Parts: sequence; C-alpha cells; structure tokens
Amino acid sequence: MSATRIPLESPSWRLQLWTWPEVEAYLGHNKGVILPLGSTEQHGPTGAIGTDALTADAVAQAVAERSHVLVAPPQAFGMAEHHLGFPGTVSLQPSTLLAVLRDVVVSLARHGFERVYVINGHGGNMATARAAFIEAYDRAASLGLASAPRLRCKLANWFLAPAVMAHARHLYGEREGQHATPSEIAVTLHLHPGLAQKLRPLPDPAPVGPIHGWEDFRRRYPDGRMGSDPSLATAVAGQDLFERAATALSEDLQHFLQAP
Ligand code: NI
Repeated sequence: MSATRIPLESPSWRLQLWTWPEVEAYLGHNKGVILPLGSTEQHGPTGAIGTDALTADAVAQAVAERSHVLVAPPQAFGMAEHHLGFPGTVSLQPSTLLAVLRDVVVSLARHGFERVYVINGHGGNMATARAAFIEAYDRAASLGLASAPRLRCKLANWFLAPAVMAHARHLYGEREGQHATPSEIAVTLHLHPGLAQKLRPLPDPAPVGPIHGWEDFRRRYPDGRMGSDPSLATAVAGQDLFERAATALSEDLQHFLQAP
C-alpha cells in the first residue's frame, strides 16, 4: 500500500469507518494518529455548547485529509468544571479526563502507534492533557510495549496557532476576549451555517479575569462570556480562520511525525 492511499473500502480517514485489517496495514507505513479533543460547555448566550468539540473535530478531519493520517473519534467531553453553572455543560473532573486520555493513548500505543497528535479546542483541557501524556509514557513503559521508547504525544491547540491568533486579533481586536470568542463562534458558523440564527447584539461583556469554581465563574461572567463579542462572528471569517488552523496544524503535524 502506498503511503498516501486511503484503503479502498474506507471513504475517509476516520478510524470509526475503518476495519482492523485496514488499521493493521496502515501501521505498516504510518505510526501517526490524530485525536480530536473538545469540551461540551456553554459558549455564552448565543454560542453552541458543542463549539470546542465541533471545531476540534472539524480541524482534525481537515488536517487528516491533508496529511493522510488516521483520526480517532473525538473526545467531546473535557474539563469544564468552571462552566457547570450553565445548563447543558457536561464536565469531566481533571482526574477523570486524565485517566481517559491516558488510556486512549496507551490503547493506541499497544497496537504500535508512536505519534499521538491531540488537536484541542478548549484551553481548560491543556494542563490535564499534558499530565495525561506523562502517565501514558510511564504506563506504556511499565507494560513493556514495543512502541514505548518511541511514543510521543503532542498537544496542538488550534485556536493558539500564531496564524489564527494574529488573524483573530486583526478581525476583532479587544472584542476577541477569552471565552465564547468571535473567532471560535465564526468557525462554528462556517461548519453549521444555521447557528447564525442564534446570534444577536449583546451588551458589553464582563471583562476578562480569573477563573475559580463554577459559582464564582457565573457571578463574574453572568452570561458566560469573558470579554468577547460573538455577534461579530461571520461564516466567511470562520472559513478563513478554519483554513489557517488546518494549514498551520498540518505543517506542525509533519514536523511531529518526522521528529526523532
Ligand atoms: Ni471554546
């Protein structure tokens, strides 16, 4: 099988649509896999609760198609404890998310995957994901997995890619804020145009500040936004931001796959 050919029976790079012999054949020439990581949490009064998972999964699919790298099912529940004051938020405690990510990585490593590229859509996942990588390395080594010496995990936050951040700053300036940002909402409008119907002008948001527990969060940020104006979001801008993210992460993934 050539390194760039999708198995005939499979219409995409989604692991969920592959068979185990196809995965086995893929591992013969590629040890990389992408894991989309999101969150299921409030995104202000006008943004979709699935924003972080929808965006991470879509960026992951685009990167997979460009890079010809298998992509695992999205982990749509993240660490969102501080958003639990808003209906619809579903959170994993840090220790739960850590265990989930560790076990996912170790499962993949058991089959021979050596490079796990986590495309993340939620800042609240970052500390826990990095801790999970440490536990995964240790577990893989303890189990004596053949892949353990070469196992590498990388956290790629699409919204922090320099090309994305610079464009968001150019488009929205201070109105970008830190949560329910117009840039992430714009990407959801690109992916699901019907979400535009939920947008409306909003009063000035609560300013960006610290994050503690969910009660304190709701008190500081009564409508869920942190310094952002999602009413500025458009699907056109979302497509631009999405393409920038897919391009930046595809390049980063190539370096990650080739690094020793
Ligand atoms: Ni978000």
